Amino acid sequence: MTGGRATSPIVRADGLRKRHGDVVALDGVSLELDAGSVLGLLGPNGAGKTTTVRILSTLIRADSGHAEVAGFDVARQPREVRRRIGMVGQYAALDGLLTGRENLVLLGRLLHLGRAGARTRAGELLDRFGLRDAADRPVRTYSGGMRRRLDLAASLLAHPPVLFLDEPTTGLDPVSRAELWVVIEELVADGVGVLLTTQYLEEADRLANQVVVIDHGQVIAGGSPESLKRGVRTSRLEITVARADALTDACDALTRVSGTKPDVDVVAGSISVFLQDSLDQLSAIAQALQAAGVEVADLAVHRPTLEDVFIELTAPHRAPVTTDAVGGPR
Ligand SMILES: Nc1ncnc2c1ncn2[C@@H]1O[C@H](COP(=O)(O)OP(=O)(O)O)[C@@H](O)[C@H]1O
Ligand SMILES: [Mg+2]
Repeated sequence: MTGGRATSPIVRADGLRKRHGDVVALDGVSLELDAGSVLGLLGPNGAGKTTTVRILSTLIRADSGHAEVAGFDVARQPREVRRRIGMVGQYAALDGLLTGRENLVLLGRLLHLGRAGARTRAGELLDRFGLRDAADRPVRTYSGGMRRRLDLAASLLAHPPVLFLDEPTTGLDPVSRAELWVVIEELVADGVGVLLTTQYLEEADRLANQVVVIDHGQVIAGGSPESLKRGVRTSRLEITVARADALTDACDALTRVSGTKPDVDVVAGSISVFLQDSLDQLSAIAQALQAAGVEVADLAVHRPTLEDVFIELTAPHRAPVTTDAVGGPR
């Protein structure tokens, strides 16, 4: 198969399995990435994220399963695949003694861009990633964030349509992380498909159009960040009473309406309860409080974060959950 329809995923993996000796690193991972979008591959340490990326980028072979990048089979057409991907790992492969520009020109020439082509492309990328002023300084003088941006620039020299970013912001300070996010968003706007592995839920929430959560080499959930958050009913209602002596009455009223025992914070004068999902419940609670003569000072609904989802999903002894977009375990 060559090329493929514009609507077909640019990366597709189906049932990837990989063992390292006795360790089952991947136990049937399937995923799809569309061009111009970000797929967040989310999972705790040791979940199998890097193994997945290494298989997709042809560095290692799966024991079984099938994967394609831009319509090319990663096992049978590795050279075609490599020509179409850029990759940034956790550890930058740059020469610290050379300047940023020299690094990019050297790599560009290795990629057969030619002397002039490599220089032009290097200049473009240095500008784009905010490295113009630092371009002619040795890389060993760069900050962590600058190095990571240069690493990203290096991976983009040959205009790959697919980018694999394996924990790209691990070890970066919050400012550098935010800068990198902006750069990634620009690439995606240009049509690049990005597979991003991360342990940071915030990062997946911010960047990813779709998320696949893996744990112990298995996909345990998938869908948009929004759908994942909806799938976990952890919306919490927090009520602060105007007068501390109303706390008991409020608590009784809430227990009656919600059918569960609320958490009480006596010091803050607040009570919180998990909502099943509906607004009906919210108005029932408001009415019950009013009927009990409880004056409410503040009322807030806390929507679940991806972190809540993640904690719930990766908690031991949970059955696999699937929302949309990704097929359930087969
Ligand atoms: N080369 C290897 N030899 C033995 N075990 C490995 C090797 N690479 C990965 N593993 C194991 O496979 C599992 C998945 O690892 P990895 O894909 O690196 O996870 P992640 O990137 O999500 O932290 C882990 O249990 C890890 O220890
Ligand atoms: Mg890893």
